[in-house]
Amino acid sequence: MYQYQIAPMMGWTDRHFRYLMRLLGGDSFLLFTEMVTINALAYGDAHRYLDKADAEGDVILQIGGSDLQRVAEAIQKAEPYGYAGYNLNVGCPSDRVQNAKIGACLMAEGKLVSQVLSVMKDHTDKPVSIKTRVGIDGVDSYDYFRNFVDEVLASGCHEWIIHARDAWLKGLSPRQNRSIPPLRYEYVFRLKQELPHLHIALNGGIRDIDTANDALTQVDAVMLGRAAYQDPRFIHQLGHSNKDYDDVLKEYISYLKANLEHFPVRKIIAPLVIALMGYHGAKKDRARLAACKTASEVLVVLDSLHLLAEGV
Ligand SMILES: Cc1cc2nc3c(=O)[nH]c(=O)nc-3n(C[C@H](O)[C@H](O)[C@H](O)COP(=O)(O)O)c2cc1C
Repeated sequence: MYQYQIAPMMGWTDRHFRYLMRLLGGDSFLLFTEMVTINALAYGDAHRYLDKADAEGDVILQIGGSDLQRVAEAIQKAEPYGYAGYNLNVGCPSDRVQNAKIGACLMAEGKLVSQVLSVMKDHTDKPVSIKTRVGIDGVDSYDYFRNFVDEVLASGCHEWIIHARDAWLKGLSPRQNRSIPPLRYEYVFRLKQELPHLHIALNGGIRDIDTANDALTQVDAVMLGRAAYQDPRFIHQLGHSNKDYDDVLKEYISYLKANLEHFPVRKIIAPLVIALMGYHGAKKDRARLAACKTASEVLVVLDSLHLLAEGV
């Protein structure tokens, strides 16, 4: 069981970012995909959403949706790809997903969430988990949260990731919903005390080792979101990689060169742009890299990265 997890984050935790996280954190982190909706898997290019590399190690696929038939089909489609488990998103507050009965709005429908998780469990032998908030629309009493948990436990889902703030479905953007509602770690700790058999990961606002370690005295795991792309050195510090930070960057650059032709340039360079953070003089290199539109432009910039080009 992992003590550290890197959160699912749309626009960030694609296969390239996950590869960087694996290099930075060694085997210490459980990684998550971005949320993939069941409709995207039903109507879109499912292989593009699901494909990943063995080098990413253990990755959990996060799905969004509540149509039972489509949830079943999504898990069936994903099974051959070798995910370490599946997670249901019950935390996303965006308007777009609310209309499709996805994300945090499902906190008002604990019985449906329980059914969805049961269907997921019926279609895989891998662990199934839920990622949720502690409340919605300002209703964030412990009793409300606990009632939701009890309804969902009928599914037998014992792996919980809890973003410890409520989600306001009206009036706040997804971004504001990650900072304005107050953090309620105490609810998560209390839940673990009351239901010690649950595997509980605390999420929300964890950005330093002390907060992470303090939380780990009360819950089983901590999940880090924004810290992963705002402070990649923290991930390196927390994890048990046997590579030093420079070597991680060099390895990512080798990966980038080998795979540049096969993926959209913007996607594959994004992790390097963040990982270069903190080097003396990296500001210019990062800006030049971020401005690249084609593979050949990227190669030119890589060859002139004054800090790292040598010996890569
Ligand atoms: C850019 C971005 C995209 C996110 N996308 C998802 C997502 O796809 N699924 C999900 O469950 N949470 C998503 N989240 C929420 C994070 O998983 C996490 O719960 C939240 O950022 C709080 O953790 P933090 O304070 O460590 O960042 C996203 C967060 C960010 C910043």
